[in-house]
Amino acid sequence: MTPLRFSILVAMANNRVIGRDNRLPWHLPADLKHFKFLTMGQTIVMGRKTYESIGKPLPGRANVIVTRQMDYEVPGAVVVNSIEDALQVCEETSMGNAENFIIGGEKLYRQALKFCQRMYVTEILRDYEGNVFFPEFDKSEWEEKQRDKHISAKDDDLEYHFVIYERKI
Ligand SMILES: NC(=O)c1ccc[n+]([C@@H]2O[C@H](COP(=O)([O-])OP(=O)(O)OC[C@H]3O[C@@H](n4cnc5c(N)ncnc54)[C@H](OP(=O)(O)O)[C@@H]3O)[C@@H](O)[C@H]2O)c1
Repeated sequence: MTPLRFSILVAMANNRVIGRDNRLPWHLPADLKHFKFLTMGQTIVMGRKTYESIGKPLPGRANVIVTRQMDYEVPGAVVVNSIEDALQVCEETSMGNAENFIIGGEKLYRQALKFCQRMYVTEILRDYEGNVFFPEFDKSEWEEKQRDKHISAKDDDLEYHFVIYERKI
């Protein structure tokens, strides 16, 4: 059986900001489309705060929410109390070749960086104000596999890149 793949999926500003007051600091519909395209039919793992900022389980995907609250319940999602349990749920529910996406936020990314093999990063080439950040990572441990450059004319020519990094063996 193909080993399970765990991948980080994040959109990050130039200054590493990923969120502000429990929401995204930018409005970038193309990135939401990209997110949907990548995750549809797969498993998404998120921290409780990210879940609450989304507000509902995302359809067409197995939603796994991580919290330390023992009585937290969300119909339509699997709630677990540790990262280890989240990984276990992914093992149990995947079809063997599925990709499992860690979709944030900062607290989840910090813990997931050590076991993910791939990162899908939307690099937004502008600074934003915010209070949560994507952690620094050692670029020498990651190989840039793909970079698709885009400019959003609607957003004052905001430039953003869809980048795929893979962990070097
Ligand atoms: N730009 C992006 O791509 C992106 C993606 C996702 C989120 N975001 C942004 O990120 C922000 C949220 O990030 P955040 O770091 O504040 O929160 P978070 O990572 O979404 O959630 C943190 C919560 O997850 C639970 N948790 C974390 N580690 C755990 C563990 N090892 N075991 C059990 N539970 C654990 C805890 O929940 P309890 O407190 O319930 O115990 C913790 O308070 C928002 O602003 C959101 O918009 C941005």
